[in-house]
Amino acid sequence: METVLVTGGAGFIGANFVRWLMANTMTRVKVLDKLTYAGNRGSLEGLPADRVELVVGDICDAGLVDTLVAACDVVVHFAAESHNDNSLRDPSPFITTNLVGTYTLLQAVRTHDKRYHHISTDEVYGDLDLDDPAKFTEHTPYNPSSPYSSTKAGSDLLVRAWVRSFGVRATISNCSNNYGPYQHIEKFIPRQITNVLTGRRPKLYGTGENVRDWIHVDDHNAAVWTIIQKGQIGQTYLIGADGEKSNREVIEEILRLLGQPDDAYDMVADRPGHDLRYAIDSTKLRTELGWRPTYPSFAEGLAATIGWYEAHESWWADAKQATEAAYAKQGQ
Ligand code: NAD
Ligand code: TYD
Repeated sequence: METVLVTGGAGFIGANFVRWLMANTMTRVKVLDKLTYAGNRGSLEGLPADRVELVVGDICDAGLVDTLVAACDVVVHFAAESHNDNSLRDPSPFITTNLVGTYTLLQAVRTHDKRYHHISTDEVYGDLDLDDPAKFTEHTPYNPSSPYSSTKAGSDLLVRAWVRSFGVRATISNCSNNYGPYQHIEKFIPRQITNVLTGRRPKLYGTGENVRDWIHVDDHNAAVWTIIQKGQIGQTYLIGADGEKSNREVIEEILRLLGQPDDAYDMVADRPGHDLRYAIDSTKLRTELGWRPTYPSFAEGLAATIGWYEAHESWWADAKQATEAAYAKQGQ
């Protein structure tokens, strides 16, 4: 049985990935997660104890990382500081975790010659104009805007250098915005859902015309496993499901699904350096590796996600007050 080391497996996408592996493969999983504010043991509850083990630790701890990498067959690296707004408040942990953490993992997979898959974001490419017919492709030049996206871009470049200079067997994927269960309520969609559920109003940054390209987290994770199985070493694959929507449209849809008037939201201070539009062209992944998104539609996925937050208040309630207090300090 293959053992997969999943860094950041107690976070949003990582925990869904572990759940996806349990449902769709015979693998055994070791999760390495520091359990920062964004990590949650509860996201791994109910999984088979003989197949999933959580090791609480830091990806910057070279000794621990070396031991765990030596004992696995493949490393899938999700762990990161992941929120743009936090990176604007304090970039420091982004530099450490996203850059030094990735370096630490790369040195270990190099030493032990292990297959490595690097999880990244489309935000490394910067942004597009609203009326630009172009989408990001694997050939788009890197042009990140924030401390978050620039540290992710730096981590991608480290991976490319370790492939070329040291023969590390790595692939990279850059995905668009994910939604689904177990996402921290600081992020756009769960923040608005839990605002309505707690009697607050959704908060729209700036004009709300900014566009994100939404993909359900299960479709992202199925793509990641496809790349691990069939991807070519050294290659980058963009993952996206043609789900472009403006932030205003998303808020209105959430309000409608929750039975509220669709203008019952507040417009708040914009994010400094706010990227205007992201859009992914995933032709390479679809044609070369045969992946397709399977989630029926954004509206259905969003309704299911709302249902999950309604049913799992105990998972998010503790974080709500502090998250909103931090936003309030910035007028958001
Ligand atoms: P998240 O913030 O929900 O989870 C990150 C996890 O990493 C947490 O469990 C946290 O405890 C852990 N972690 C943080 N620092 C660590 C450290 N030093 N050592 C060990 N563990 C540490 O993030 P997410 O949204 O699940 O994103 C996962 C990955 O996917 C990130 O690399 C992110 O850049 C990428 N990504 C996210 C999206 C998105 O829409 N959320 C889209 C594309 C790519
Ligand atoms: P976010 O979930 O932070 O993801 P990212 O910055 O990685 O795209 O935000 C998604 C979009 O929603 C982004 O354009 C910022 C916007 N936004 C709001 O309008 N209101 C909010 O309360 C938040 C958190 C984000």
